Amino acid sequence: MIPTILVTGGAGFIGSHTTVALQEAGYRVLILDNLCNSSPTVLRRIEQITGVEPEFVQADIRDGGALDALFQAHQITAVMHFAGLKAVGESTRLPLAYYDNNVNGSVQLLSAMQRANVNTFVFSSSATVYGDPQKLPLTEDHPRSATNPYGHTKLVVEDILESLYNAQAGWRIARLRYFNPVGAHPSALIGEAPQGVPNNLMPYVAQVAAGQRDRLQVFGSDYDTPDGTGVRDYIHVMDLAQGHVAALRYCEQARQDLLTVNLGTGKGYSVLDMVRAFEQASRKTVAYDIVARRPGDIAACWADTSLAEQKLGWRAGKNIKDMCEDAWRWQAASAG
Ligand code: NAD
Ligand code: WQD
Repeated sequence: MIPTILVTGGAGFIGSHTTVALQEAGYRVLILDNLCNSSPTVLRRIEQITGVEPEFVQADIRDGGALDALFQAHQITAVMHFAGLKAVGESTRLPLAYYDNNVNGSVQLLSAMQRANVNTFVFSSSATVYGDPQKLPLTEDHPRSATNPYGHTKLVVEDILESLYNAQAGWRIARLRYFNPVGAHPSALIGEAPQGVPNNLMPYVAQVAAGQRDRLQVFGSDYDTPDGTGVRDYIHVMDLAQGHVAALRYCEQARQDLLTVNLGTGKGYSVLDMVRAFEQASRKTVAYDIVARRPGDIAACWADTSLAEQKLGWRAGKNIKDMCEDAWRWQAASAG
């Protein structure tokens, strides 16, 4: 059997780009996804980019039997765990669905790994675990908190991983805290495809530029930031994907480890910075209105990236021009 990386949620936004990066780095990938927020067409798109269609199993991470069968049929050497639900607003309405998918799902997956003696695990955590920043840039030792069920699921899974690491020798675990992933593969064959009204800024901006939506609502212009709008650390999804390859290599070289690391660029841009950059990239106007703050939003957030550089030898290489150009190319291609 050929050594294989299991990528849960690999048909989704970040998982599909990471699959491309893994295949280009020489890894064989098996995707497990229940397709609740993605489409199987992504698999052929990945093949168009890399020349190899990843193996695919349509199953749920909460299905222990399906996981056991998969670990028996393949020589899985590591698991990258992207599968889960990620909409903050929805999580406040449907908390049980979030705890079930994200927390129970992770427990089921880790249990199946334990049964199969697979102990290398890369987890999609989030900068949301830092809550409202007490100081910037955010370092990994910043206190954690959660203001919504989604964020709490990330916090709980981080803790479960720590308990597991402390309980049993041999685990090699990376908890990767993503900042704001945006952009798309430069080929425009894969990208972010939100269902319905986008929750996040960049897909919304792209749809306004494309004429699919009238105007962007800018949530607040009275924050303590240079132009009053919210500031975030946007990271190109291909940089993020490369960060995963670096984290996997780090784990592969360790006898055992529990690594917690930020994946961001270290730079903060405001909502209006992003609107202007997108207008330049698309040569379209992005009409907007300033409206009230969105409840639960923080003013500003960006990463200290020194630990990622030191531990993984990785840093983000793409800038907001790249992010906006690739997001626009993807938007234009997927609308056509
Ligand atoms: P996504 O929704 O595009 O991808 C998630 C994939 O998981 C989807 O293809 C979905 O069908 C699948 N999935 C969901 N529940 C499943 C289940 N129970 N069993 C099997 N498959 C399931 O989301 P994404 O943006 O690619 O996010 C990937 C991961 O990164 C998530 O864990 C998310 O919480 C985390 N994350 C995302 C962001 C972001 O802004 N996109 C930021 C920080 C962390
Ligand atoms: C960015 C900025 C908004 C939409 C969320 C989750 C977080 C993480 C990433 C997974 C903010 C402003 C947005 C709009 C706007 N996901 N905005 N108009 O809030 O930083 O993070 O996604 O872990 O957990 O909370 O990202 O893209 O929603 O917002 O003005 O229509 O854009 O107020 O300042 P956020 P976002």
